[in-house]
Amino acid sequence: MTTLDFLKAKKENKKISMITCYDSTFAGIVNESDIDSILIGDSCAMTMHGEKSTVPAQMDWMVEHTRSVRNGAPDKFILADMPFLTTRKGLEYATDCAGRLLVAGANAVKIEGVFGQEDILKHLVLSGIPVMAHLGLTPQFYNAFGGHKMQGKTEEAAAKIIEEAKIAESIGCFGLLLECIPAELAKKITESVSIPTIGIGAGVDCDGQVLVLQDMLGMSGFKMRFVRQYLNGRELIKGAFNAYAADVADSAFPAGDEIK
Ligand code: KIV
Repeated sequence: MTTLDFLKAKKENKKISMITCYDSTFAGIVNESDIDSILIGDSCAMTMHGEKSTVPAQMDWMVEHTRSVRNGAPDKFILADMPFLTTRKGLEYATDCAGRLLVAGANAVKIEGVFGQEDILKHLVLSGIPVMAHLGLTPQFYNAFGGHKMQGKTEEAAAKIIEEAKIAESIGCFGLLLECIPAELAKKITESVSIPTIGIGAGVDCDGQVLVLQDMLGMSGFKMRFVRQYLNGRELIKGAFNAYAADVADSAFPAGDEIK
């Protein structure tokens, strides 16, 4: 898959699937699956580093997770997040950070918000760095929003998100990620732009969907309203851990061929 395939998929009404991933082991499994694309989300701060929000995500972490995932998934389209404030410190710093992600193996970067950083988005696009704009609930605004809350609920808030979507399209972004906005608003945006929308908690009318790997595999220990769990991963893995611990305790492991 390439950025051109994202646009083609929208034209042909073909839905795009995306999953987050942060390490080469899971990336290897995604690589063998039918999922179209991978997001190295700054959600790694929460899923891999135990933080409460994405705000603490470090640029160096993003580079290492991107390299690891690319090593495990050589065939997949990889989108990598620009972490907190990396696009708010000027053109040169943003370009360096985005460049590091592409050198580490990403095909494109995702940037939260449009207002106030239009020149940076445009510069990256013109530099050959495909950009997806993340709108709605932008988790890096966790402190400003007062938590992870649905956005775009009032007419005024919805109009601002629509405006950002149109600007992102005119700048040359190849796609939009719409997080936690009313389904009706996501539908309206999807129908009014020529670039594909990937939704999470934004209804079924987006051009594609993304889920956090740990959430969809039931490993997070909690379930958000909009997540579908395809596995009870936490219980299954815990069961395997407990079986191993019991075998060690009973001297049942190693045994037979495992000893030779
Ligand atoms: O960081 C992330 O995983 C994301 C998804 C929630 C879309 O941005």
